[in-house]
Amino acid sequence: MTLSPTATGGEAFTLVVNGTSVDLDLPGTVPLLQILRNDLHLNGPKYGCGLGQCGACAVLVDGVPARSCILPLAVARGRRVTTLEGLATDGRLHPVQRAFVEEQAAQCGYCLNGMIMTAVALLARDPDPAEATIRRELGGNLCRCGTHVEILRAVRRAAAAMRGCPGASAVPTSRPEIPA
Ligand code: FES
Ligand code: FES
Repeated sequence: MTLSPTATGGEAFTLVVNGTSVDLDLPGTVPLLQILRNDLHLNGPKYGCGLGQCGACAVLVDGVPARSCILPLAVARGRRVTTLEGLATDGRLHPVQRAFVEEQAAQCGYCLNGMIMTAVALLARDPDPAEATIRRELGGNLCRCGTHVEILRAVRRAAAAMRGCPGASAVPTSRPEIPA
């Protein structure tokens, strides 16, 4: 299927977004996030700072996290763009998405797109990252709600599940026990 975003005149080129070819006729300077959200209705990536500083808009470009709010379309030309919507396969959540649900690693959820996309890229190249590595890799993604502990646990849970560790799904959640 070919999606047909609004044509406003500019440069004709093709993007591949979540495996689908998208024909565009737009200035190459338009930020990728604008097309993803406004034209392709892919609302996984969020508009946060708009300055490349918070990570809410992260997508994968050829498997590498990129900040789509400041990424010009021309830079993504001919490359594979993956958004949060493109992680699930056959209706099944990606293990990182599942782990975030299982760990209840959200309050408002606004940062989760960036956290999840960054974690997916990390685990693709390092299946068993050290805690310090996870912290460093996710450090550029801002969470104003303070769910950092749950997010770290979710990434560790996803890593274990993806390595096929027995009992990975039985990793206890971070919900504290409330004494009666
Ligand atoms: S919205 Fe893109 S980095 Fe903040
Ligand atoms: S859960 Fe609200 S910003 Fe992270």
